[in-house]
Amino acid sequence: MRAILCVAAFAAVVTFVHPVFAEAPPDPAAVKEEDGKYFDKEDNPTFKVTNGSTDWYTYSGYRRYHSECHVCHGPDGEGSSYAPALKESVKTLSYGEFLEVVASGRKNVNTSHTNVMPAFGDNPNVACYIDDLYVYLRARGADAVGRVRPAKHDDKPPAAQQAEDSCMGVKK
Ligand code: HEC
Repeated sequence: MRAILCVAAFAAVVTFVHPVFAEAPPDPAAVKEEDGKYFDKEDNPTFKVTNGSTDWYTYSGYRRYHSECHVCHGPDGEGSSYAPALKESVKTLSYGEFLEVVASGRKNVNTSHTNVMPAFGDNPNVACYIDDLYVYLRARGADAVGRVRPAKHDDKPPAAQQAEDSCMGVKK
């Protein structure tokens, strides 16, 4: 039940941010930090790399990406013959557009093939980590993180643990 609530919240976010469609994507530079999470000047989540060490969310996004997305989108956000390079997509998609596609999916049908982006809005393993995925892909797009597992990273902030527990419905 908790997971379903979380998904409803995710859908609400998507609806809420919908009007930002077609705006230019913001500069990924971090200008603000809150509980170990970084934000750009438009208040969208972003990465921070300091002396080769990444923020927690970039590292977490790396792990989530490679469990949920890489089979179609290729390792390290590089793309494949089936699905686009997401490290490039996040340079042109707004945060709202990114959330929308991941939550609702997309189907591209043409005469020779059908490429399907599944809807992940009801999958807590994606929905609960959507910012992590976005932040990691922005870091890849900006070449702030290479094609490797981030070796050094911040510890998991208590705020990240709390958000995860409530999204996943873990009882304390
Ligand atoms: C089953 C294969 C598959 C999986 C798994 C998958 N995708 Fe996709 N995704 C696609 C395809 C195919 C497209 C292109 C659809 C189209 O052309 O309209 C796509 C498109 C996208 C787009 C739009 C890109 C753009 O440039 O417009 C985003 C964002 C995206 N996927 C994110 C993700 C994320 C994040 C994950 C992991 C949680 C993921 N996808 C997992 C197949 C997949």
